[in-house]
Amino acid sequence: MSLSRSALFVSLEGIEGAGKSSVLPALADAVLAAGLEVELTREPGGGPLGEALRQIFLNPSLCLDASEELLLLYAGRRDHLHRRILPALAAGKVVLCDRFEDSSYAYQGGGRQEALARIRQLSQWAGIDREPDLTFWLDLPPEQAVERIRARQPDRLEREDLDFFRRAREVFAARAKGAPHRIVRIDASLPLATVQETAVGILCERLSIS
Ligand code: TMP
Repeated sequence: MSLSRSALFVSLEGIEGAGKSSVLPALADAVLAAGLEVELTREPGGGPLGEALRQIFLNPSLCLDASEELLLLYAGRRDHLHRRILPALAAGKVVLCDRFEDSSYAYQGGGRQEALARIRQLSQWAGIDREPDLTFWLDLPPEQAVERIRARQPDRLEREDLDFFRRAREVFAARAKGAPHRIVRIDASLPLATVQETAVGILCERLSIS
C-alpha cells in the first residue's frame, strides 16, 4: 500500500487522568491548520464493533478477568485497525488515536499481570500488524492519577488501586525504553499548556509543518 507523505499513525497513551483528552484536540487543530486531514479516533472503540464493546468493557457492574478483557479489546482492535485506521492512512490522513495497543500491555499485562508474551500472541492472531508511527506517552505519577480520578465518577478500570496503576506505568516505561524511535515520554505533571505545546511541537516537526 503506498501512503501519502502526510499519512501518519499517532497514538496517545498514559494512565488515567494524564490529560489525553485535552492534548488530542490541540494536536488535531495543529494538523488541520496546516491543511492536512485528520482521523480522530479512540480505543476501546473507533469502529461500530469497538464502540459497542467499549460499553461492555467499561461497565462497572460487570466483572471481567484479564483474558475476557483482552478478547473484547482485540476483537474491537481488529475491526478498528482494518476498517478505519488503515483506510484513513491509505487516504493520506493523520490518524490521532486515543490509546492503542500499548494500553493492553500496560493495563492487562502490567495492571492485571497477564503474561506479555500471551498478549503478543493474541495480537498476532488478531492480525494487528501495524503499530503507531509515533506515540505520546503522557507520564503521570500514579498517586496524582488516582487523585484526579477520585474527582469523577469512576468507570470499571478507574476503580483499580494505586498498585494497579503503578504496574501499568512500569509497563509503559519499559515499552518506551524498548521503542525510543516510536514512543515519546512527556511529563504530564507539568501545566497542561506545556504538555500540549510539547506534543504539538513534536508532531509538527514530524510532519514538517509549523
Ligand atoms: P479512556 O479512559 O482513555 O477512555 O480508556 C478507557 C479505559 O480502558 C482506560 O481505563 C484504559 C482501558 N484500556 C485497557 O485496559 N486496555 C486497552 O487496551 C485499552 C485501549 C484501554
